[in-house]
Amino acid sequence: MGSNFVRYWYDHHPDDLIIVLDTLTYAGRLRNIPQRIHQDHKRFEFFMGSVTSIEMVNSLVQKADIVVHFAAETHVTRSILESRKFFETDILGTHTVANAVLKFMDSLERFVHISTSEVYGSALKEPMDEEHPLNPCSPYASAKCGADRLVHSYFLTYGIPAVILRPFNQYGPRQHLEKVVPRFITSAINNEPLTIHGDGSARRDWLYVEDTCRRIEAAIEAPLDRVLGEAINIGSGEALSVLKIARMILKEMGKPEDMIVHLSDRPGQVSYHISSTDKAQRLLGILPGRPFREGLQQTIEWYVNHRDWWREIEWMKHVKILTRTGQKEMH
Ligand SMILES: NC(=O)c1ccc[n+]([C@@H]2O[C@H](COP(=O)([O-])OP(=O)(O)OC[C@H]3O[C@@H](n4cnc5c(N)ncnc54)[C@H](O)[C@@H]3O)[C@@H](O)[C@H]2O)c1
Repeated sequence: MGSNFVRYWYDHHPDDLIIVLDTLTYAGRLRNIPQRIHQDHKRFEFFMGSVTSIEMVNSLVQKADIVVHFAAETHVTRSILESRKFFETDILGTHTVANAVLKFMDSLERFVHISTSEVYGSALKEPMDEEHPLNPCSPYASAKCGADRLVHSYFLTYGIPAVILRPFNQYGPRQHLEKVVPRFITSAINNEPLTIHGDGSARRDWLYVEDTCRRIEAAIEAPLDRVLGEAINIGSGEALSVLKIARMILKEMGKPEDMIVHLSDRPGQVSYHISSTDKAQRLLGILPGRPFREGLQQTIEWYVNHRDWWREIEWMKHVKILTRTGQKEMH
């Protein structure tokens, strides 16, 4: 999401300097930022380092007037086998950023914290609005929930200029193959089975990443008093099951449905997730997103045309988890 946002901001805000901090874990790739941006030293600076590094974060936040905090360990399935890193990066990283924002609050206009809809857990009511109880279901979700509430507490305690965004499921170009949409697309390209956890009935709300970037932009540009201290859902308001998405991908790519294979259920799974878009529309304005089929076609086209991008990370498609009976299984 971060690299898509850098591209978006670079192309739409020609007077701005963009400073990126990324420690480049297995999930981060420098090549996600195109050369035309890298080489534009007047408008782009990249720093390799951790969001948990107090000195580094302070030195960069000091130079900024807007901070957008994406950095996190993000894969639910990975957090099931080993979650320490999730709490270090997602909570202590956010703590580091929030403290830097507090320190340089006088010169900083706004801090946009990228949270996630996973903080809610499965929907207790439909659609899910921002008042929905926070019931994180996985270690990843609980780490992000801690970070989300940490930012809110800093707003209440110190008055930092924070806005919390809670995106629902993302898809689009350059997404890591561990995430479900690119995993399905690349499996279909390779004529390999599309593996689904459980029966595939888990339904999620999907938004094309560029449409998310437009909403982040709207949260940066909205009058501060309108969005200050608010948590805002970023979703489409429509839910689609994982099984339905697998079928749509196979249909778009002219492949048979019997390529779908079901695995045992993944623990920590959220069964139903759908965003209320009311608050986003009220605070950020009406920003139509593209229909899912259109975004999916664009995403398929990107993966078909960028095999060199994903070939080298194919081996990371499947991840080992710890089951409730103590077994290790590939998912
Ligand atoms: N992908 C989704 O569907 C989704 C949905 C809702 C919210 N989010 C949130 O959006 C943000 C971005 O998600 P994504 O899917 O692009 O994640 P990603 O896993 O694809 O990328 C994470 C990035 O963070 C970097 N990073 C990890 N640890 C770091 C550290 N200690 N210091 C600096 N950088 C570090 C990685 O190198 C990588 O570039 C995250 O905060 C995530 O929780 C994602």
